[in-house]
Amino acid sequence: MVVGAPAGCGVKALVLCGGAGSRLRPLTHTSAKQLVPVANKPILFYGLEAIAEAGIVDVGIIVGDTRREVMAAVGDGAEWGLRVTYIRQDEPLGLAHCVLIARDFLGEDDFLMYLGDNLLEDRLADVVAGFAAERAQLEGAPAAMILLRKVLDARQFGVAVLDADRRVTRLVEKPPEPPSDLAMVGIYLFDARVHEAVASIGPSGRGELEITDAIQWLVDAGHRVTAREITGWWIDTGKKDPLLEANRLLLEELEPRIEGIVDEASSIEGRVVIEAGASIVRSTVRGPAVIGAGVRVTDSFVGPFTAIGAGCEITGSEIDHSVVLEGSRIVDAGRIVDSLLGREVAVVRGEGRRGATGLMLGDHSRVELA
Ligand code: TTP
Repeated sequence: MVVGAPAGCGVKALVLCGGAGSRLRPLTHTSAKQLVPVANKPILFYGLEAIAEAGIVDVGIIVGDTRREVMAAVGDGAEWGLRVTYIRQDEPLGLAHCVLIARDFLGEDDFLMYLGDNLLEDRLADVVAGFAAERAQLEGAPAAMILLRKVLDARQFGVAVLDADRRVTRLVEKPPEPPSDLAMVGIYLFDARVHEAVASIGPSGRGELEITDAIQWLVDAGHRVTAREITGWWIDTGKKDPLLEANRLLLEELEPRIEGIVDEASSIEGRVVIEAGASIVRSTVRGPAVIGAGVRVTDSFVGPFTAIGAGCEITGSEIDHSVVLEGSRIVDAGRIVDSLLGREVAVVRGEGRRGATGLMLGDHSRVELA
């Protein structure tokens, strides 16, 4: 580390944007789950911003079937001051497999591993600085640092057991009887010793090379693995409800701004962003909410915790606590809540239909009727 330089100097980042995304179908049939927007910005961009803020420059991004979309969105990373290298994963064979295939990119450097669909409230820069400080110890420098968050029900997470010295002694995946309430967050720091670990473990019962097994391997080999507990929120956005929750939390931090047109019969209440080219006619927008560029809201109510993507049309409808991606139409649709709509989706009242619902849904779509 260079004295006086940010903690991330000399540290690389490995950002995971492959995977199957099966829990976010049908959206992930056509696009990358890391690029679904929350508060109208792709999830992945929050991570890249935080990585850049931590002083990291060299970023390897693991990409799978959705690589074209990820590469088109992120490019060479210059927008964030990053240097991005893409690493192709042919099949989602696990988080530790991602480290295995990134060997050439990572070389002997320390690195931050970041799951591209995770969001963290705590500053990543502090986390990276914490690892750098521990690594600067003359003796017993940790080979890895994991992040932990206290949770009410740890059964659905990877769970860590620590000794009095904050040293990790054991990791268990989704234990029916959790030995602690400390869940592993999808952000990890490693030094080059992890390469031997990922090369030494075999696939788990679900056929993946598990990062928990690689970390346990480090522990068992006598290397120090430390833990840092985070206190802010952390969300793995891989499913609809956590994604809506992330949208809610990020909208609460919105700087209000109105660049579109609001007619005199409309009212804008609370924290609201209305992007340029949007028009609000005879409608109410109650924040926190964001209305994307070119959106037309007419005779409608857009309620709290809603993000409407660019170019959408909302007419004669009510919507709240929802995320709507670009180019969708919601017309005379009644009230829509807790919903996630993909791109170019149409939710419209059919003509001449009485008490019947007409559907054209893609594979794995889900409709909850009133
Ligand atoms: P997960 O959400 O654990 O896995 P997944 O993307 O396959 O989703 P699902 O369970 O819904 O099918 O992955 C966490 C992150 O890591 C996510 O951003 C995808 C990425 N990932 C890879 O890049 N390669 C992999 O082999 C795996 C398993 C995940």
